[in-house]
Amino acid sequence: MGQKTLHGFAATALAVLPFVKAQQPGNFTPEVHPQLPTWKCTTAGGCVQQDTSVVLDWNYRWIHNADGTASCTTSSGVDHTLCPDEATCAKNCFVEGVNYTSSGVTTSGSSLTMRQYFKGSNGQTNSVSPRLYLLGSDGNYVMLKLLGQELSFDVDLSTLPCGENGALYLSEMDATGGRNQYNTGGANYGSGYCDAQCPVQTWMNGTLNTNGQGYCCNEMDILEANSRANAMTPHPCANGSCDKSGCGLNPYAEGYKSYYGPGLTVDTSKPFTIITRFITDDGTTSGTLNQIQRIYVQNGKTVASAASGGDIITASGCTSAQAFGGLANMGAALGRGMVLTFSIWNDAGGYMNWLDSGNNGPCSSTEGNPSNILANYPDTHVVFSNIRWGDIGSTVQVSGGGNGGSTTTTSTTTLRTSTTTTTTAPTATATHWGQCGGIGWTGPTVCESPYACKELNPWYYQCL
Ligand SMILES: *[C@@H]1O[C@H](CO)[C@@H](O)[C@H](O)[C@H]1NC(C)=O
Ligand SMILES: *[C@@H]1O[C@H](CO)[C@@H](O)[C@H](O)[C@H]1NC(C)=O
Ligand SMILES: *[C@@H]1O[C@H](CO)[C@@H](O)[C@H](O)[C@H]1NC(C)=O
Repeated sequence: MGQKTLHGFAATALAVLPFVKAQQPGNFTPEVHPQLPTWKCTTAGGCVQQDTSVVLDWNYRWIHNADGTASCTTSSGVDHTLCPDEATCAKNCFVEGVNYTSSGVTTSGSSLTMRQYFKGSNGQTNSVSPRLYLLGSDGNYVMLKLLGQELSFDVDLSTLPCGENGALYLSEMDATGGRNQYNTGGANYGSGYCDAQCPVQTWMNGTLNTNGQGYCCNEMDILEANSRANAMTPHPCANGSCDKSGCGLNPYAEGYKSYYGPGLTVDTSKPFTIITRFITDDGTTSGTLNQIQRIYVQNGKTVASAASGGDIITASGCTSAQAFGGLANMGAALGRGMVLTFSIWNDAGGYMNWLDSGNNGPCSSTEGNPSNILANYPDTHVVFSNIRWGDIGSTVQVSGGGNGGSTTTTSTTTLRTSTTTTTTAPTATATHWGQCGGIGWTGPTVCESPYACKELNPWYYQCL
């Protein structure tokens, strides 16, 4: 019993395993992550540019057999001959890189554009609806630790009609995307998605999901929006279940019907800045989360809040979350670190009415039908840019003391550009199974001890 037996077992298991190709990245399409620099800010030191990129979710990828003649996935799950179990599936199947442009994703400088539809060279328009994660130069997801901190970004929602949802949110995924011997690409190939709706996916935390389990995790929706309505919603989880509806803040639903929209107080026909603050009871980054504050900045000015006293979700007001540890539990996840996620999508089932119709917004109950969106707004896209996070007050400089309260309408703000332009040194070494080289790779090329960097194909070197 005890350690000796465990070690003995592990050694035996490894000895009898053949060299497992391990659902390794395929080499039909190189996986080249679009660069998206972001900034990490402190009050004392200003903003420092981070060497970050975006990666498309695993579920969007072609997963196929060795020569690419058969798909490992079917409309109802996996091919049971290629994938009878995790280990065999890992040996037989390869996860492919993607063409980001035809997946609806482009970056330019610190700006990310995501399209709902993409028109291919054959003239065919497809719904591509990408979902992306922020990836660090070490090949793992960036874990944003936002308890007692703020996140800010600029957004252009002007082309998103009723029924469309441009979303920027946080999910408490595994930093490596569940990288393991069966899934060596991990976060580099967008694996490990989870959220508070507990999605049942073919792969779960990077491994074949053989028993139809849902994968729940804490989710903080910073922004779910189109040009007509928007919501910010914490969804904490506890003991394997989550606050699926969440206690959202949507100005229209709160009765502020002329606050947000084209030509309104927050004018969605133009870009604007969103600041979200996660404020603790004691003002530190280790306290208990007791409010989430939303501030808009547009045309260099802090926009007056909709509610007098600021647009705030409070712990006591967040009643739906009480059974799931409340805002405090959301804060604990923010303190541990969460993965920044971007998506654009529409909803054939409910036409996104929960966001923008009835009590929630000015849209009719049917205009969010995706066929209507495709017919009238095939160019719909969201642009996120200048993503920065850090100490409260450090990401966007607000002069005149404006903090989003109703009394301040004229304070001027200056978007803080990086006062330090040094990129954080990617001194990190790649971890076991991590990528350490290949065409287009800009991350670490040295492996942590005792692993060595091996070439698997020209596009992918790995620490083995
Ligand atoms: C990606 O797709 C776009 C649009 O179809 C195409 O123009 C481009 O050549 C493709 N890139 C690569 C590397 O194949
Ligand atoms: C996900 O996978 C990683 C890597 O194998 C593991 O450390 C982590 O515990 C897993 N997370 C969950 C929730 O299963
Ligand atoms: C989770 O379960 C444990 C054990 O039953 C319980 O003590 C705890 O209060 C639960 N957490 C929440 C947030 O409900």
